Amino acid sequence: MFHLTTERPDDGPAIDDLLDRAFGAGRQSKISYRYRQATAPVGELSRVARADGGGRLLGTIRYWNVAVGGHDALLLGPIAVEPSLKGRGIGVALMRDTLDAAAWMNHKRVVLVGDIGYYARFGFVPAAPMGLVMPGENPARLLAAPLAKGAFDGVHGTLQPRRFLRGGGLIAA
Ligand SMILES: CC(C)(COP(=O)(O)OP(=O)(O)OC[C@H]1O[C@@H](n2cnc3c(N)ncnc32)[C@H](O)[C@@H]1OP(=O)(O)O)[C@@H](O)C(=O)NCCC(=O)NCCS
Repeated sequence: MFHLTTERPDDGPAIDDLLDRAFGAGRQSKISYRYRQATAPVGELSRVARADGGGRLLGTIRYWNVAVGGHDALLLGPIAVEPSLKGRGIGVALMRDTLDAAAWMNHKRVVLVGDIGYYARFGFVPAAPMGLVMPGENPARLLAAPLAKGAFDGVHGTLQPRRFLRGGGLIAA
């Protein structure tokens, strides 16, 4: 029914349209979007679900580089699935595929803003009790998952966006 591929540059308009329908046109005023300004999503982890056959875009997931307590982390999101096709495993496939890829790429920790009821199955736990903070966001919705054992040991503080340096590399903003 569907397959996953890496996002292509010409997927942009279809992804924006899907995100507008999934989250509403005001989505960019969400706190998490502050971490997505002046930087690009992690290319290797920007994946889409396409319909078998025609290739219509059915789902999207992206990740962003952030920092917390002086350590690298990934901010997951947004993830969205074509509304008429919810509940058919597309979201789970996007999550598992990209979390496996992130671990393989040696990323150590992932944070996101979302419902624990959905994300617990992927190893996410509430991040506020661990001392992680996203200013302005509901602390109960900030979740974290280690991709390596003990990856959050001693890691706490306020999430910081990261920006590209001229000539490559990343800095904490
Ligand atoms: C959340 C979303 C990505 C899930 O994708 P999906 O393809 O519909 O989900 P899947 O088919 O892979 O998984 C379905 C399971 O997730 C559960 N689920 C979906 N959304 C949930 C939520 N917000 N809280 C708890 N469980 C949820 C379903 O009940 C179902 O459970 P089951 O496997 O026990 O039956 C999709 O519903 C979506 O695009 N929602 C709108 C945008 C959004 O809210 N994105 C997430 C931001 S936090």
